[in-house]
Amino acid sequence: TLIVTRALCGNFFDICGIAEQAADIEGKARYIENGMMLLNGGTIVWLGNREEGERILADNDCTIPLDDYSEKLIIPGFIDTHIHYPQTEMIAAFGEQLLEWLDNYTFPTEAQYHDIEYAQKMSQFFIQQLLTNGTTTALVFGTVHPQSVDALFTVAAALNMRLIAGKVMMDKHAPAALLETPEQSDRDTRALIARWHNHQRLSYALTPRFVPTSSPELLEKVRLIKQDYPDIYLQTHLSENREEISWVKSLYPQHERYLDVYHHHELTGSRCVFAHCLHLEQEEWDCLSDTDSSIAFCPTSNLFLGSGLFDLKAAWQKKIRLGMGTDVGAGTTFNMLQTLAEAYKVGQLQHYRLSAFEAFYHATLGGARALHLDDKIGNFDAGKEADLVVLDPGATALQQLRAANSKTLAEKLFVLMTLGDDRNIYRTLVDGNVVYQRDN
Ligand code: GUN
Ligand code: ZN
Repeated sequence: TLIVTRALCGNFFDICGIAEQAADIEGKARYIENGMMLLNGGTIVWLGNREEGERILADNDCTIPLDDYSEKLIIPGFIDTHIHYPQTEMIAAFGEQLLEWLDNYTFPTEAQYHDIEYAQKMSQFFIQQLLTNGTTTALVFGTVHPQSVDALFTVAAALNMRLIAGKVMMDKHAPAALLETPEQSDRDTRALIARWHNHQRLSYALTPRFVPTSSPELLEKVRLIKQDYPDIYLQTHLSENREEISWVKSLYPQHERYLDVYHHHELTGSRCVFAHCLHLEQEEWDCLSDTDSSIAFCPTSNLFLGSGLFDLKAAWQKKIRLGMGTDVGAGTTFNMLQTLAEAYKVGQLQHYRLSAFEAFYHATLGGARALHLDDKIGNFDAGKEADLVVLDPGATALQQLRAANSKTLAEKLFVLMTLGDDRNIYRTLVDGNVVYQRDN
């Protein structure tokens, strides 16, 4: 017999399988109008049409109340593969590109996280923002202070959220208050791994900020920790800004390209997630592909900082694992619908047509695959974890008007991602529980 603790009905949309190319995604799209999903605690046990679901409930003597989301669109929880929680309070900082933006805004803000109480307060706020926007899993940067990561993981653990995070590692080219020695970085990082890695649904990510704030000695420490923990993640930045790239070449003249610095220290490979990747040379694309590394595409950040345009077509051609990132606070929203809308515009500037099916794939199953979590999250396959979002496709008068004038599912999804924002997030479920409810 089937144990069912929650039954939801509504319209369901997900992507059933991993795609080799963008053109394959539509064929893997699953849309169940007037469907039902059955959960057992935090696990999806069944998805199908509503009549059949009601029969299953009756056959198993289940008398639980139905969560009725008729007219709503239920999709897998969004996955944000690149975000900085200690930049929440400095989102939308005016006027600078990357390197000046870091000096003038980012570093002073991150310095505040030495204060554990401040970090706790901001962790609460940050996780609330994720849930308000339907994001149920994220790969998150803390600050250099280990207590910043303790605070964040504590909040995520209380919700049994699937979250990956790590403390930033940096030992040069930043204010003294944010610097550590390679030895201290190694000790603090190992202590956090022991406390949090594989605790509940949490995982740890080694987080060397980027090459300019990393000495060879620090990168060597990262390499050794990574060797000790084969299932650990690594997150960093790669090739975001032209000035940054020239700086890397002057700091590491012995390496020909930016990625070579990471690769030399064995910091490429499965579960290594590189944000941005905007100005890669062919050899760098090849290296990411050959090492099975992942990319986080962060369109609102790339446009906001004037960094450049990500080449989605190249990522497909090289068959590189890819997810969407908001990159708050260089990114300008926590919302994945808005992020997908900007990704479409980045495509337009390069004559690449990002379909809604492809966009939702990157934000769900594709992101799960980029994080090697596609066996656990990313779609509604039975056995997967019950992290999902209930969208209200007509949250505004304009959306309702436009939806009434759209015919196909592709068109409705495209309108939703183009006009949508946090007003469209009706409910968010994590581990089978409602953790966010829109007012009204
Ligand atoms: N490169 C190094 N640090 C950062 C950061 O905090 N944000 C962005 N967008 N790029 C970076
Ligand atoms: Zn970033």
